Amino acid sequence: MPVWDGSSELSIRHAAEALTAGRLVAFPTETVYGLGARADADDAVAAIYAAKGRPRDHPLIVHVGSLEAASHFADLAALPVAHMLASQFWPGPLTLIVPRRPGVAGAAAGGQGSIGLRWPAHPVAQALLQAAAALGVAGVAAPSANRFGRVSPTLARHVVAEFGPELIVLDGGACRVGIESTIVDCTRAHPALLRPGMLERSLIESVLGEALREPGGAAPRAPGTLEAHYAPQARLRLMDSRMLQQALEVLQGGEPPKGLAVYSRTVRRVAPGIVFRAMPEQAADAARELFSVLRDFDAGGVRLIWVETPPPEPAWEGVRDRLQRAAAS
Ligand code: TXA
Ligand code: MG
Repeated sequence: MPVWDGSSELSIRHAAEALTAGRLVAFPTETVYGLGARADADDAVAAIYAAKGRPRDHPLIVHVGSLEAASHFADLAALPVAHMLASQFWPGPLTLIVPRRPGVAGAAAGGQGSIGLRWPAHPVAQALLQAAAALGVAGVAAPSANRFGRVSPTLARHVVAEFGPELIVLDGGACRVGIESTIVDCTRAHPALLRPGMLERSLIESVLGEALREPGGAAPRAPGTLEAHYAPQARLRLMDSRMLQQALEVLQGGEPPKGLAVYSRTVRRVAPGIVFRAMPEQAADAARELFSVLRDFDAGGVRLIWVETPPPEPAWEGVRDRLQRAAAS
């Protein structure tokens, strides 16, 4: 049985035992599903890179179930900025890049002197991480459970579609946040935002008392920060509301092109033959469904997606970022 009920204690125990034995286990977090391996076992971590087709020098996030477990990988008490953010926002959709303790999780960190740490809020993730910790596994390295460059999974069946039926997948339902965690680099004199997410920049800044810097050239390699990433199979094009309306008007009367889909907040109807999904009014709702919508389009044979550019408001920064990267592929 590859897909296990994440709400069952027995499943959690078996999954924790599998992780401890060095096997891969996919599990839900509040952001997206992760493909996990014990962070202290180089072989297990290597299996993640192999399964994803991910370059070895792209570091993974290590997931922990407590501040104490996080301290195994980094001296958080000695890092005021990271400590402050962790106290305020963990467990939650925030990853902190911090200096790594020498000798721990080197393979998971992709050879960097730093490490990405996150204490996720999802109850299934927490149960798994705590059960693994009880077996002596302090942290679970887990990138999003998709093949390199593809859209992150927000349902257990997305993970199965990526990796097939052999992989153990804990099913925790649909991810509440829907896009990957916000990443803050705390290894510099002034913290920088490496990847926007649904934990908004302004909230982090209000805790820090300073503006987050841009990553700049010094940022280590991070697939989530590559221009072209998070791509559906279909080509995706971002257009403002007017451009989209005009493009649709041009098509009026004629035969609609095959495999065209529209995902828009202001357009509410399209000609027959065009696939349509209404983009939600609220950023949180749009984020929650975004990757699922893109996967549905792919599954329906869509080849070109016209997406209305989301509003310029701060709440939409994470969604805008993912769509811009998808459009750049
Ligand atoms: O929400 C999330 O963050 C999900 C769930 C599963 O937790 N995980 C996720 O992992 O999105 P992944 O591997 O797809 O993206 C992790 C990002 C990458 O861009 C990676 O390069 C960056 O975090 N990262 C991890 N460790 C880093 C480090 N030491 N320095 C710089 N970037 C790092
Ligand atoms: Mg990813």
